[in-house]
Amino acid sequence: MATTRRDFLRIVPSALAGASVLHPALSWAGSDEVYVPGKEGMIVRSARFLDLEMPMEVLKTWITPGPHFFVRNHMHEPSTLDASTWALTISGEVENPLALSLADLKKLESHTVINTLECAGNGRAFQQPHVPGVQWERGAVGTARFSGPRLRDLLHRAGVKSTGKHVMFRGLDEVPGKVPAFIRSIPIEKATDADTLVALEMNSAPLAKHHGFPARALVPGWIGAASCKWLTEIKVLDKEFEGNFMKPGYRFPNQPVQPGADVNPDDTHPITALSVKSIIAAPIANATLRSRAVHIQGAAWAGEADITRVDLSTDGGSTWQPVQLGREQSKYAWRLWSYSWHAPRSGEYTILSRATDSQGRAQPASAAWNPSGYLYNAIDQVKIHVET
Ligand code: MTE
Repeated sequence: MATTRRDFLRIVPSALAGASVLHPALSWAGSDEVYVPGKEGMIVRSARFLDLEMPMEVLKTWITPGPHFFVRNHMHEPSTLDASTWALTISGEVENPLALSLADLKKLESHTVINTLECAGNGRAFQQPHVPGVQWERGAVGTARFSGPRLRDLLHRAGVKSTGKHVMFRGLDEVPGKVPAFIRSIPIEKATDADTLVALEMNSAPLAKHHGFPARALVPGWIGAASCKWLTEIKVLDKEFEGNFMKPGYRFPNQPVQPGADVNPDDTHPITALSVKSIIAAPIANATLRSRAVHIQGAAWAGEADITRVDLSTDGGSTWQPVQLGREQSKYAWRLWSYSWHAPRSGEYTILSRATDSQGRAQPASAAWNPSGYLYNAIDQVKIHVET
């Protein structure tokens, strides 16, 4: 089948910086385009280790279709992974260490969780002053239906000892050079929550390779980094795992930080659940609209909490009105929202959205600055031009 220009990914120039080796799933399609089969239309934030962002134009459905689900890889995806020989081991502070095949996992009772997965760095590009890292804007987030055995059922089989306090996950990523492996841990309380899974399916199909085939951890409501892909080892530990992706990675300052200031890593804590946040998906930023009837829509989520309201301003924040929240909802999933607005006249407008959750948290005017730009959740805003 011929590949049309529209099938190629949009690539941002910085995505190729330092990319001497292209991700194996990519092929060059021209000077500024690369092709990832099955991920057409995504924004390439990094081509060396695949980082793909969902463009706001495609955020139209409560469940994000696989082709539009963002990808965040810290290193190379496993190049050879044979599901027939793959095994998941459970060891550490357990009575009966286990090794389970994919067939073994499929025989266990399966549970489904609809979860909004967001990268802790989503929105980093909006941090002021600028912070290093993948320059995600709004789309390092998506919602999918994840299914597989409950992690707690596996831990129960292995028999966690009273000394087991944290559960470590290791994936089969190919670690380049001296880079530390992507290994993290979660506390035993979250690991044994009824909704924490070893997911084998995403949207009723086996996990796609980019999303962790054949198995990934699914830690609902928490930052995406908790949900280890290509899972091959679960180890119960007597304390939190110590490693690059636990410290200094994925930590938040204990105290408010002066934007731009350094932070002492010892005065930080591991990031767990997501913040309250909304994004405006339409109109897209800087759009020129030829009609005064403007359909505004977006999504809002709050990790382990529920969205209770989303308010919208079409006058740069002077006045606010509640939006209509979408009908579809589930404990850890975003709510879609919409608002029909009639622009009073031609001109430039700033539209703002602000979500509030069941814990009483509301999006702040500016996000709590931190050196890695984690958990960016400032009130979203887009400028639009109405020309009629
Ligand atoms: N698991 C492994 N093994 N390696 C990774 O690089 N990235 C994590 C997490 N699990 C990662 C991983 C991060 S930072 C995020 S945000 C999510 O996977 C992204 O999941 P997705 O690529 O399926 O959207």
